[in-house]
Amino acid sequence: ADPDPLQDFCVADLGATVVVNGFPCKPASGVTSDDFFFAGLSREGNTSNIFGSNVTNANVLSFPGLNTLGVSMNRVDVAPGGTNPPHSHPRATELIILLKGRLLVGFISTSNQFFSKVLNPGEMFVVPKGLIHFQYNVGKEKALAITTFDSQLPGVVIASTTLFASNPAIPDDVLAKAFQVDAKVVALIKSKFER
Ligand code: GLV
Ligand code: MN
Repeated sequence: ADPDPLQDFCVADLGATVVVNGFPCKPASGVTSDDFFFAGLSREGNTSNIFGSNVTNANVLSFPGLNTLGVSMNRVDVAPGGTNPPHSHPRATELIILLKGRLLVGFISTSNQFFSKVLNPGEMFVVPKGLIHFQYNVGKEKALAITTFDSQLPGVVIASTTLFASNPAIPDDVLAKAFQVDAKVVALIKSKFER
């Protein structure tokens, strides 16, 4: 959870040069209703990519009115057979509600226990803060979910791309040892992700 606000609102001035925990506020005299409105989640995301999924963010970066308010949302579109791949949010618990389709959702605890459910429309699942989780479309139709977070900027660490597509790259020897495979296998996995 983010810290509590110290004023009614603090619409982010994303262009400010001063660096603070969050973003400085735009002067209140210039704030309008539009600062508290965001239409970005009304549009379906493009799932034509290697994962067959798309996450549209309504966080402080796309919706500056969220600054200091401690909440954000995503729209998650997943094509049949597609996945929002295993990832974690360092700064937030995630609540997911399925609006359309059938979606397998799951997370893994720090004691390596796997918890999962197949969601139908209207059903929810909660992913405790910081734990690795994913969604996978097990239905025949497109799946649509909304996720909500107790942070204006939850952050995301995608397991596959963090390890195999970092910049600069993690040395092959490290990954070969960690995954107990030949360096050729590491190179093959790296080749699947653009950097
Ligand atoms: C889903 O896991 C999301 O992060 O929106
Ligand atoms: Mn997530």
